[in-house]
Amino acid sequence: MEKKRFRRPWPCMKKALFSRSFGVGLMLFILGLTSLLMGNIASDLHWSQFRRRIQPKVSHNKRLDIWKSNYSDLYYGCSVRGASFRYAVPENRSNGYLLIATSGGLNQQRIGISDAVVVAWILNATLVIPEMDHYSFWKDDSDFANIFDVDWFISYLSNDVPVVKRIPDRVMRSMERLPWTMRPPRKSMPEYYLEQVLPILRRRHVLQLTKFDYRLTNRLDEELQKLRCRANFHALRFTSSIENIGQKLVQKIRGMSSRYVAVHLRFEPDMLAFSGCYYGGGDKERAELGEIRKRWATLPDLSEEGERSRGKCPLTPHEIGMMLKALGFGNDTYLYVASGEIYGGEKTLQPLKNLFPNYYTKEMLADPGELEPFLPFSSRLAALDFIVSDESDVFVTNNNGNMAKILAGRRRYMGHKRTIRPNAKKLSILFRARNQMKLDWEAFSTKVKSAQSNFMGEPDEMRPGRGDFHEFPYSCICKKEISH
Ligand SMILES: *[C@@H]1O[C@H](CO)[C@@H](O)[C@H](O)[C@H]1NC(C)=O
Ligand SMILES: *[C@@H]1O[C@H](CO)[C@@H](O)[C@H](O)[C@H]1NC(C)=O
Ligand SMILES: *[C@@H]1O[C@H](CO)[C@@H](O)[C@H](O)[C@H]1NC(C)=O
Ligand SMILES: *[C@@H]1O[C@H](CO)[C@@H](O)[C@H](O)[C@H]1NC(C)=O
Repeated sequence: MEKKRFRRPWPCMKKALFSRSFGVGLMLFILGLTSLLMGNIASDLHWSQFRRRIQPKVSHNKRLDIWKSNYSDLYYGCSVRGASFRYAVPENRSNGYLLIATSGGLNQQRIGISDAVVVAWILNATLVIPEMDHYSFWKDDSDFANIFDVDWFISYLSNDVPVVKRIPDRVMRSMERLPWTMRPPRKSMPEYYLEQVLPILRRRHVLQLTKFDYRLTNRLDEELQKLRCRANFHALRFTSSIENIGQKLVQKIRGMSSRYVAVHLRFEPDMLAFSGCYYGGGDKERAELGEIRKRWATLPDLSEEGERSRGKCPLTPHEIGMMLKALGFGNDTYLYVASGEIYGGEKTLQPLKNLFPNYYTKEMLADPGELEPFLPFSSRLAALDFIVSDESDVFVTNNNGNMAKILAGRRRYMGHKRTIRPNAKKLSILFRARNQMKLDWEAFSTKVKSAQSNFMGEPDEMRPGRGDFHEFPYSCICKKEISH
């Protein structure tokens, strides 16, 4: 666990040291004395190693504020372009037009679009507004302009990449063949684009990249990461009709309670089928989920128990409720539940509602008929859940899907709002023990808190550079200078 921590933010440091027992003071004294005697002062390196070793213990004695990280105010999102970062090469001098076909649901597409902006910069290409995926599992006919504010996208990025709504007619007419189509390998490096894609773009002048999700490496230099953040966190803004309804739902819930927890349940049939987990529903469940599982031809046969103990199974709504209660959320907490169809429906949800009676969904918050225009469009409905979850004080993810990742990253960027990721691996053991009556509530609660201690969205949970960049956008998070 200590390995995961890289540094604690500082103001607490001095206080912590002074309030720490006499023993530490003595140790420091001896350390200082030793190094003096040995004729050299303890170097910064030694000091920081020493500091790192004592700090986690210090903070664990304190109580975590479940609603807000004590350190969130020390961080802010920073993605302003550096002075030497090359400006956009104008459309008429660019190497050609880059068409992008995104893939998957709303958030997977969002990842693809952010990465496409960076690829267009690398190639000195003119980016054509990406084409949305109409054929994914979520089947949605929406185009980019139905979901995102196109003009804002174009103007926000104008310093970085020229973006056009479509290929100019002049270029279309001069094309002799259909655009060249290619699919870059997952997580390709910039060199791949320069070596394999650029020559084709130059030759054909119009090039389409298909199934464009996760096609760019996590590791880019800082300035390109910042461009990624500008695209994701600033340029991609929902249309005003989506944003307005989303904010209205937020106001409704804030009108009832000054703060709320949003939970992305994702306890949906496709998710459960994909996970290969078993939830105790007997043959009926096995048959139903098995049927859905056939959709993916290449899924391995998984052991149900194996997946559970590896932490790969989404928590049930009841388990999410138990975790929240154990962490210290009172039964008067307002819960916003973002979700599609829940497997097992009302019956599965009831235990969560019993624990948290102030339970809301977008359907419950919206005025009658208000969601009607959104219903045929899964992406627009997902956008509403995105907004209410993004605005929440605490966001709970229940899977490592794209919405969870994108929102977790965004919340870090926007001032480290708390995001709780259930540590399913450890929690699964605790739930089992609790079910077998081997743990009373107090012991259970203590163990849940400790299982979650590095999964609460604290600023220093992940060493910079580790993890998925969209979830941990470390290059775009800066620490404020502390004045003493
Ligand atoms: C966070 O702040 C609260 C209230 O200000 C305090 O009680 C708690 O001890 C602090 N926790 C840590 C880990 O510093
Ligand atoms: C490119 O377009 C800009 C205006 O957008 C114009 O000022 C410039 O002369 C054009 N350059 C070429 C080479 O056509
Ligand atoms: C992009 O344009 C810049 C400035 O004009 C140039 O230095 C760079 O080599 C170009 N890169 C590509 C891939 O065309
Ligand atoms: C909430 O919890 C309190 C005790 O902490 C209990 O008295 C009360 O009945 C509970 N309310 C509901 C609605 O369950």
